[in-house]
Amino acid sequence: MLSLNVSLDDRAYPIHIGGGLLDRVDLILGQLKSPRAAIVTNSTVAPLYLAALADPLRAAGVKLTEIVLPDGEQYKNWETLNLIFDALLANRCDRSTTIIALGGGVIGDLAGFAAASYQRGVPFIQVPTTLLSQVDSSVGGKTGINHPRGKNMIGAFWQPKLVLADTDTLKTLPERELSSGLAEVIKYGLIRDLKFLEWLEANMDKLRARDADALARAVERSCACKAEVVAADEFETAAEGGRALLNLGHTFGHAIETGLGYGVWLHGEAVAAGMVMAADLSRRLGWLAAADVARVKSLLARAGLPVQGAPLGAERYLELMGHDKKVVAGRLRLVLLKHIGEAVTWSDAPPGDILAAIEECCHV
Ligand code: NAD
Ligand code: GLY
Repeated sequence: MLSLNVSLDDRAYPIHIGGGLLDRVDLILGQLKSPRAAIVTNSTVAPLYLAALADPLRAAGVKLTEIVLPDGEQYKNWETLNLIFDALLANRCDRSTTIIALGGGVIGDLAGFAAASYQRGVPFIQVPTTLLSQVDSSVGGKTGINHPRGKNMIGAFWQPKLVLADTDTLKTLPERELSSGLAEVIKYGLIRDLKFLEWLEANMDKLRARDADALARAVERSCACKAEVVAADEFETAAEGGRALLNLGHTFGHAIETGLGYGVWLHGEAVAAGMVMAADLSRRLGWLAAADVARVKSLLARAGLPVQGAPLGAERYLELMGHDKKVVAGRLRLVLLKHIGEAVTWSDAPPGDILAAIEECCHV
């Protein structure tokens, strides 16, 4: 087991990464405020992993409520959030009840938002079971739901007490979901860690073959990157750079997810195409060479990800991007690449260049 720490003063917490961690009840028990917990999961993950987590907790004397939600990005909404509140109330869960998210980023974001708001806040634990959630969404405390007009538009910052990433769960992950997680892994290399990017280039085939050591290393390095960024700028308030850099490709990608309808493209797929757009725009600003853009596309393609955008029309992209949370005082603040391995936030990209980068990336 590898362990990291997210350094946030009195809200600091450990991330444990490794095989066979689901039933390491000792790691969870020490974090419970009382012997009372509610596991939030979905109809796909429950038959695979709910018993492995719940049985040892019950055997250790924890009174458990199990909440099984429908599966899918299209359920990351108010109606599904309310199902969690309904179950918590029906089972008389009190303020000392810990909510445990067992699943991917959708479950983590929903359960985390429920934890942030149920009885004005209850303790929360993340047990991520997708690559994307192990390398990104379970760490850092962003929780929330989608609105038909925009992705992740309603939510709260609510840090977990513990992240338990059992890499054995990745064995059952569909191929497309593994690739989706790899998009966020590649993101860390692109924004802040050239050596890691080179390692990814050398080990992409192993990662796609689910080599256990390679996956554990990718999860560890990604979590270390995210933990450092979050510790330095927890609430994404830095005037430049900071936590916003984690959104490379996301403003373009969110336009794809919202424009096509939630769940049509996976989050990592949309981010991958968005990172190509960001790289091409960085080239237009004179920061990257054409060979750098080709390098980004090549690695994403090797990870099984799309390098072409969804054909929404460049104007529609801009309209949807205008609704993104990354709009500051009416100006679109994008994350771009000064070099491969170094990202910046940038509000001065000419609209004509943004449109051209989108068109270039959507061109068949
Ligand atoms: P997801 O939660 O939809 O999970 C993907 C699919 O895999 C689902 O069908 C799920 O049921 C299934 N699944 C989960 N674990 C499995 C396993 N071990 N074996 C087999 N199937 C399994 O998607 P995701 O990619 O994990 O997360 C995407 C979500 O995360 C998006 O909503 C995105 O906005 C959010 N996100 C949040 C943050 C954050 O900081 N909070 C960061 C990045 C992404
Ligand atoms: N996924 C972006 C963030 O956590 O800030």
